[in-house]
Amino acid sequence: MKVNVVSRGSKEIVKGGVHLSDSATVADLQEAIHQRTKKFYPERQRLTLPIQPGSKERPVVLSSRKSLKDYCGGNSDNLTVVFKDLGPQVSYRILFFWEYLGPLIIYPLFYYLPVYQFFGYKGERAIHPVQTYAMYYWCFHYFKRIMETFFVHRFSHATSPLSNVFRNCAYYWTFGAFIAYYVNHPLYTPVSDLQMKIGFGLGIICQIANFYCHILLSNLRGPDGSGGYQIPRGFLFNIVTCANYTTEIYQWLGFNIATQTVAGYVFLVVAALIMSNWALAKHRRLRKLFVCKMFIRIWMIDLCDFAYSSLTGIAIRRKRWKTEVSTQMGTFTSVPVEASGEPAPPFSPIWYYVLGPRA
Ligand SMILES: NC(=O)c1ccc[n+]([C@@H]2O[C@H](COP(=O)([O-])OP(=O)(O)OC[C@H]3O[C@@H](n4cnc5c(N)ncnc54)[C@H](OP(=O)(O)O)[C@@H]3O)[C@@H](O)[C@H]2O)c1
Repeated sequence: MKVNVVSRGSKEIVKGGVHLSDSATVADLQEAIHQRTKKFYPERQRLTLPIQPGSKERPVVLSSRKSLKDYCGGNSDNLTVVFKDLGPQVSYRILFFWEYLGPLIIYPLFYYLPVYQFFGYKGERAIHPVQTYAMYYWCFHYFKRIMETFFVHRFSHATSPLSNVFRNCAYYWTFGAFIAYYVNHPLYTPVSDLQMKIGFGLGIICQIANFYCHILLSNLRGPDGSGGYQIPRGFLFNIVTCANYTTEIYQWLGFNIATQTVAGYVFLVVAALIMSNWALAKHRRLRKLFVCKMFIRIWMIDLCDFAYSSLTGIAIRRKRWKTEVSTQMGTFTSVPVEASGEPAPPFSPIWYYVLGPRA
């Protein structure tokens, strides 16, 4: 089989095309392109089927696990694919490691070193217990994230663009320094003992819950990251789609109750907005993948999602539906509770009684 590899402007990427056996997969083609071009390793390549000029359709992206024949459309001797260079890539582990390492190192610098002298504070700095606990809490959080990156998460995408390392590091490192500066400041005023205990107590419970959520997520895949996307189940995933983000948001809320700085709350709002947005996107992806299965799991108690679902009245508890969910390829039936005659469960939002379940 001959495969012509062209750019979007129809320029030949591999002179004379690539000759492969009829049983070759897309991964074989990517490897062959790498050998011929040297520069473009498989993770840098995005291969699509050509589309008609002027067409507004999205091009079909070739899946590396599939056979090339699946894309030939009857003409098994000749295939043309459009090549796009995704730029230099890094593994997700490397990306996460660097973005978390910054806050893990930067925060203690503000606690241990006399950095405030450079900002004009010359006197002795009295350290309050809450500042010490906050430093341990912060370091534990980022250390946990690094450990989870290497030993818990089972990533599906092999790589991320190198540019994301700089973007994400800028976000985490800057916020780390911003919060550390204010929490460790010589003029910092601590909150009451009770407030500190409530804040750190809530935060620690949420960090443990967050860790458990990550274990549940990693159990959805094989050790090599195979298995695609599944509907997470168990623990808080029975009521929210992205329980890991929910617990993450609430653990930052706990930290902020205990430390109470504007910088910390700014970070909380930004992080909550980002994660709520991702949670909605992940929710939509699961709904699409599992057709109507996810119809029933839209209640996210992430701050913004809660507001979103409250406003639109789409929060529907899973238990209100009689469901039979098997695998992605398997069968699924969903019967609304009214049809089954079951009463609304005790935690129903008020609009359930007024409007009934919606999607
Ligand atoms: N403070 C902040 O600003 C902030 C922002 C983001 C994240 N975080 C924290 O960092 C953690 C990790 O972030 P993340 O965005 O990478 O979380 P994530 O996308 O939810 O994923 C965590 C891991 O679980 C996998 N996964 C997620 N949903 C899955 C599903 N339905 N089926 C199978 N596997 C699934 C992911 O695989 P894929 O490789 O396929 O995605 C990834 O390996 C978060 O849980 C949160 O605690 C904090």
